[in-house]
Amino acid sequence: SRNLVQPEDFSIKEIDEILDLAQQIMANPDKYSEVCKGKLLATLFYEPSTRTRLSFESAMKRLGGNVVGFSEPGSSSASKGESLADTIRIVSGYVDIIAMRHPIAGSADEAVKYTEVPFINAGDGGNQHPTQTLTDLLTIKTLTGRLDNHVIGLCGDLKYGRTVHSLVKAMNRYNDSKFVFIAPEQLRMPGYVKQYLKDHVYYETASLDNAIPSLDLLYMTRIQKERFADLEEYELLKDCYRLDADKMSKAPENMLVMHPLPRVNEIATEVDNDKRAVYFQQAKFGMYVRMALIMKLLGVDVEE
Ligand code: CP
Repeated sequence: SRNLVQPEDFSIKEIDEILDLAQQIMANPDKYSEVCKGKLLATLFYEPSTRTRLSFESAMKRLGGNVVGFSEPGSSSASKGESLADTIRIVSGYVDIIAMRHPIAGSADEAVKYTEVPFINAGDGGNQHPTQTLTDLLTIKTLTGRLDNHVIGLCGDLKYGRTVHSLVKAMNRYNDSKFVFIAPEQLRMPGYVKQYLKDHVYYETASLDNAIPSLDLLYMTRIQKERFADLEEYELLKDCYRLDADKMSKAPENMLVMHPLPRVNEIATEVDNDKRAVYFQQAKFGMYVRMALIMKLLGVDVEE
């Protein structure tokens, strides 16, 4: 079966097809309301989620399909010690497609070995979040008209933030993408992401003030408390960036502010009404792109 564990599992052409389909669905959702009739999605969420789980479930139901799953792993037999391998073997015998979120980096690579149906990584620890990346690409393409030739600032927790790891790897495949990694020393972008990049396509800074005037896109992230081994370090770093109206006054007129959400304090609510703040729109795009992804992996289409 066809799976999505990391963004590179799809070619640029396939990603374009998914984004095009998502745009068609957005324009005319009623046309797609029965394409997955009789199909079942399992959402296996071993870690908390609002957007990813509910947008997957909404996506499948809006396509006419159905959903089973859990969001409290304590209610599954994982709490009795059942392995991830056995869980995936069992669930893939019940459903047509699986979306799984798990707190351990690399768990999606492990799980995908045991599935007999299409498998989607809905976030594995601090590693990858490829459906967030599809959401981000749809947002950028729809709101700017292109995916190439952007200067993208990524700000905050670049060490543990799986959304930025996936997004950088994906955007690096498009021509003339430039990255500014804005993070404190302790939370810099890991080498295993930077190794994919040529030296001249990125620079690193701790200063959002210095970087913001040069950006086309600013991708803010939350400092990921749940990934810190040392909570004292989290306390020191948790408020290291705060995007507010004053900082926005130094940003280009057309710069978009994105955020995978949830946010804590890193974007002041006064920014929400700025026309450049697109993070709530971005979350809605996530549902449409997951509709397109489910259709692609199940090989279904509308009957013309
Ligand atoms: N962006 C995102 O993954 O949000 P959730 O953790 O709420 O799913």
